[in-house]
Amino acid sequence: MEKILLPDINNFHQLEVYKEQGGFSAAKKAFGQTPDEIIDSVKKSGLRGRGGAAFSAGLKWSFMPKTTDLPKYLCVNGDESEPGSFKDRQIFEFNPHQLIEGTLITCYAIGAKVAYIYIRGEYHKWIKLMQKALDDAYEHGYIGEKMKSTFGTDFYCDIFIHKGAGAYICGEESSLMNSLEGQRGYPRVKPPFPAQNGLWGNPTTINNVETIANVPKIIEKGWEWFAAIGEPKHPGTILFGVSGHVNKPGVYELPSGTLLTEIIYKYAGGVPGGKKILCVIPGGSSMPPLRGDKLEGVKMDAESLKEVGSAIGTGGIMVMDEDTDLVKVLARITKFYHHESCGQCTPCREGTGWMEKVLNRILDGNGSTSDLDLLISIANNIDGNTICALGEAAAWPVRYTIERFRDYFEKRVNKQITLPVKNKVHSMRKTSFPIADITK
Ligand SMILES: Cc1cc2nc3c(=O)[nH]c(=O)nc-3n(C[C@H](O)[C@H](O)[C@H](O)COP(=O)(O)O)c2cc1C
Ligand code: SF4
Repeated sequence: MEKILLPDINNFHQLEVYKEQGGFSAAKKAFGQTPDEIIDSVKKSGLRGRGGAAFSAGLKWSFMPKTTDLPKYLCVNGDESEPGSFKDRQIFEFNPHQLIEGTLITCYAIGAKVAYIYIRGEYHKWIKLMQKALDDAYEHGYIGEKMKSTFGTDFYCDIFIHKGAGAYICGEESSLMNSLEGQRGYPRVKPPFPAQNGLWGNPTTINNVETIANVPKIIEKGWEWFAAIGEPKHPGTILFGVSGHVNKPGVYELPSGTLLTEIIYKYAGGVPGGKKILCVIPGGSSMPPLRGDKLEGVKMDAESLKEVGSAIGTGGIMVMDEDTDLVKVLARITKFYHHESCGQCTPCREGTGWMEKVLNRILDGNGSTSDLDLLISIANNIDGNTICALGEAAAWPVRYTIERFRDYFEKRVNKQITLPVKNKVHSMRKTSFPIADITK
């Protein structure tokens, strides 16, 4: 299978190598077409957003107003803070120029003269790598005013990196725009949507890093080529980040619709010690989990996962073996969403804290069966009653994990499960220092 995003080419992150491999020829081709033709190709390719909601990229671009005197903007979302997601940073590191080329083409298609790549604040290394790629591209005339002579076109645009400051909520598109504007990262009430009222009140398109990095290949090879890869309703390859109890955790680029079991057992090397799988979260920590005994035949694409009651999210696959303490997992996930709630909406601000409290009660051995219903009731009261989808991100894991593992949770609150005693100092397991030295 041909890799679109992470090809096995040495030093592909270097501008020279990228150019040798045909880099920036898609941009040249795109600038010879009309913006509408490009939007049409991307629509027909079936490219869907890789940032969580799997919305059609071409359709989103078509929402941008065509006749306006207002400046338009593109935001490339590289906040990547969802637990279990670590694929955008692979693009920053190994294929930054394809992301730049995709950004140029998208700006041209939507009529933007400025793009911001918003990168998670903790990604120091990847911010530096991406900045280096931008500097090189500027120097060689692939970004900015020099583009006019490089590509022989009237169009040019600028690209800036904006560094986040460590808040998960700033990955939510409207919050990201507030953060870019220098305001507190509060999500905005929608509508109006960003295409009508985005950055500084101007029309704005926001797409995930992986989404944008796909664009040059669609233009270069044609929408028919892209549409034929993987599952027709969600075509292309997907960067699957596999973590947890697998022998070879990592990011695997595979066609959409690849079997989940194939990803876990063939690519990620199976489960250590040949243990059974208890639970898999298929798309980052906010997505509904799947039972280990219900993984057969599950395909990894948006529509197939919807059919089994989950969602593709960011493609971050978290594998948990039979010895996993699901209460602990859920308590930890909930703690994260409680901590990251921006506090604007009462159901999210209060509800996430209540869920954390009840889960900790169960964890401490003081829970009861009624706590399980209480948790589901709190989750249901958050779901659909908040400004942004962090509410659902917090509610879904709680509701679906308890519903799908009710037997497990009931045994757990009734103390009928003996959990294996685990080594709590994981990070020290393989240390070569004698423990005594460290404590000095
Ligand atoms: C709480 C929250 C956090 C989010 N974090 C990210 C993120 O880190 N990266 C991302 O691309 N999208 C994130 N999203 C989704 C964005 O709001 C937006 O839908 C996405 O960037 C659009 O890109 P796409 O259409 O290419 O997927 C988040 C959404 C929510 C509700
Ligand atoms: S749902 Fe949570 S994170 Fe989103 S706006 Fe409301 S309080 Fe803030």
